[in-house]
Amino acid sequence: MKAHQAGRTGVDAITIRDVTYSYPDGSLALDGVSLKIVKGERVAVLGPNGAGKSTLLMHMAGLFIPQRGEVTILGLPVNGRNIHKIRRNIGMVFQNPDDQLFCSTVYEDVSYGPLNLGLAKDEVASKTREALRRVGLEGFEDRPPHRLSEGEKKKVAIATVLPMQPKIMIVDEPTSNLDPESRRELIDLIKGLWERQNFTLVVATHDVDLIPHVADRTIILNQGRLIGEGPVRETLLNPELLRKARLELPTITRLFHLLEEKRMARGGGRPLTVDEGLEEIQYLIRELKRSRKSPVGKRLSSVER
Ligand SMILES: Nc1ncnc2c1ncn2[C@@H]1O[C@H](COP(=O)(O)OP(=O)(O)OP(=O)(O)O)[C@@H](O)[C@H]1O
Ligand SMILES: [Mg+2]
Repeated sequence: MKAHQAGRTGVDAITIRDVTYSYPDGSLALDGVSLKIVKGERVAVLGPNGAGKSTLLMHMAGLFIPQRGEVTILGLPVNGRNIHKIRRNIGMVFQNPDDQLFCSTVYEDVSYGPLNLGLAKDEVASKTREALRRVGLEGFEDRPPHRLSEGEKKKVAIATVLPMQPKIMIVDEPTSNLDPESRRELIDLIKGLWERQNFTLVVATHDVDLIPHVADRTIILNQGRLIGEGPVRETLLNPELLRKARLELPTITRLFHLLEEKRMARGGGRPLTVDEGLEEIQYLIRELKRSRKSPVGKRLSSVER
């Protein structure tokens, strides 16, 4: 059973306790952040530009050692001694794929991890091919990464972490700069990987419309501080909380809020996604047809007139 189905009673994957982080120029990026993520969970870190999301993810990946506070990953405190052991279990997909892809071919980039593990050449080759197949980029082996489209680069960046079979997958802004089709492909890819493999997933984004597809819980950051957290539905339906983080309700939710104000939708039926919106409209039409005596039916038939 996945962690979100079991409730948050599972074993901790990541614990962050009172972490504060400033960059060398003095910019305060994290200010006393504490949170827990349990194994198998899917968590979105939501916040506007500059909120500290990437900085928090660097701590979750064991790439930054906390300046103040404590970070524990898979039971090990992050410090100079543990760092290599910890990093081996984590797949970090950076916000900018150019920070991830530094070789002259896609094959070299994807095979870099398994080669460093000291695996035999044919095992490296089969793991590399398998990772490229998973992200739908078979045949891209000899392509130079810097010539790929943004969507292809993001997929290669994900492929580079798959051969390591990470226990925790951390993805920073998976859908930024993508066209609608690439965005859909990336969402399906991340969802599919999480469903098939048994990792803990952390996704950072400022895209509220993305979150219901890839997460079950939201952590909201603003100006380096954690300002809220909870199940996706609760957090994304909370306009005050989102406004505090200079964010808006998901697009479909906004539409249904307006319909409610015009008494053209029921209070409480709050879809987050296009699919949920469709279901809600189908429900409203059914109610209208079925019974003009039902509260929703009555309300809708009065609007019709
Ligand atoms: N290398 C750096 N040197 C100095 N300041 C930095 C550096 N990287 C980030 N910052 C600052 O730290 C704060 C948090 O940045 P961070 O990149 O973690 O935010 P973010 O939420 O990921 O933003 P975005 O949505 O734009 O990716 C910002 O004020 C930023 O200007
Ligand atoms: Mg960022």
